[in-house]
Amino acid sequence: MSSVVARAARLLPGRQRAERGPDFAAMLSALPIPVILLDPENRFRHVNLAAQQFLGMSASSLAQLRLSDLVPPDSPLFLLIDQVRQTEATIADHDMTLESPRLHKPGIRVQCAPLPEEPGAVLMVMQDASAVRALDRQIAFRGAARSVSGMAAILAHEVKNPLSGIRGAAQLLELSVAPADRELAVLIRDEADRIRALVDRMEVFGEKPIQRSAVNIHRVMEHVRKLAQSGFAAHLHFQEIYDPSLPPVWGNRDQLVQVVLNLVKNAAEAATHDGNTHPEIVLSTGFQHGMRIAIPGSTTRVDLPLYVAVRDNGPGIPDDIRPHLFEPFVTSRPTGNGLGLALVAKIVGDHGGLIEVDTRPGRTEFRLHLPVVTDEDAEQ
Ligand SMILES: Nc1ncnc2c1ncn2[C@@H]1O[C@H](COP(=O)(O)OP(=O)(O)OP(=O)(O)O)[C@@H](O)[C@H]1O
Ligand SMILES: [Mg+2]
Repeated sequence: MSSVVARAARLLPGRQRAERGPDFAAMLSALPIPVILLDPENRFRHVNLAAQQFLGMSASSLAQLRLSDLVPPDSPLFLLIDQVRQTEATIADHDMTLESPRLHKPGIRVQCAPLPEEPGAVLMVMQDASAVRALDRQIAFRGAARSVSGMAAILAHEVKNPLSGIRGAAQLLELSVAPADRELAVLIRDEADRIRALVDRMEVFGEKPIQRSAVNIHRVMEHVRKLAQSGFAAHLHFQEIYDPSLPPVWGNRDQLVQVVLNLVKNAAEAATHDGNTHPEIVLSTGFQHGMRIAIPGSTTRVDLPLYVAVRDNGPGIPDDIRPHLFEPFVTSRPTGNGLGLALVAKIVGDHGGLIEVDTRPGRTEFRLHLPVVTDEDAEQ
């Protein structure tokens, strides 16, 4: 947007301006998100006000510089920009660090898009992680469930064995005690079973490498829908919007069933709250280009082009739960364990995937970004 246009818009009387449509330059400058336009030589063509604050420099100083004056040449940002120019597609990176003598910005989400009208120009939008959180699109970080791993192992060893002893003893008592006391023995047995079931659920958090193969994600979704409709979600309306052209996911089928099942269970519980006359769950899949994630401890980044989403029309995630959504034992339901989403985060993390949550009253969506089978995987 040239400054001539901006000036012309300012000179127009209010009424005429409204008829002309919005003043895009003014909108861009008021936008509280850093927006940068780079020319084909990575010179700063336009920086809005938020971007000037973000970079700590005025537009006139930036106009004299190239991106390489601010960011070291080995920064992944340049790779991202090159890729946008090559593919002419929008690409995002979720956890980039911009580090130089002038800048120290860890955990930046960067989105880059080509400008079809100007070949070689790249539009860059940056947000620091806290801003992303404020926008309520949350990413479950990989370690969300790590703390449970050790505990799961201890529980499995130290609780399960004595528990089977207690259960066996209660069973024997059932046979020998007076009828009036039998009820107590049954109570002990049932409670032992309940603890065992809980420990079994926790065991999944253990650190075992996953067995992967090519998984047809639509079979997974349909399997879960059938399970749900023949059980806990019999009264709910399901809508399925699938992209049949999707390639297989590189993952573990049973674990992916568990993930989708946990999400659909939560969605069903949320959608059937009081007063919702049309509880509905929408299952969808599709391509979303431009999702990438860094592999911890390396500079490698993998593409996550496929998404799986579970949406409900319930009341939304309670405010107090949101910051801890993926932590174990966080629940708002009297009968909940708070393990469903912790397990989802753990499994998706093990798959090298990403979770995003978008929630507001009447619409909550969990979106999983998963890796697809690559030629290298197929060879294995
Ligand atoms: N789709 C949703 N809509 C609204 N709130 C949700 C949704 N999904 C999860 N939540 C909130 O997040 C909390 C944690 O979910 P999570 O699945 O981890 O545990 P839970 O469902 O309470 O118990 P569990 O799954 O172990 O039986 C829920 O108690 C609920 O408050
Ligand atoms: Mg749950």
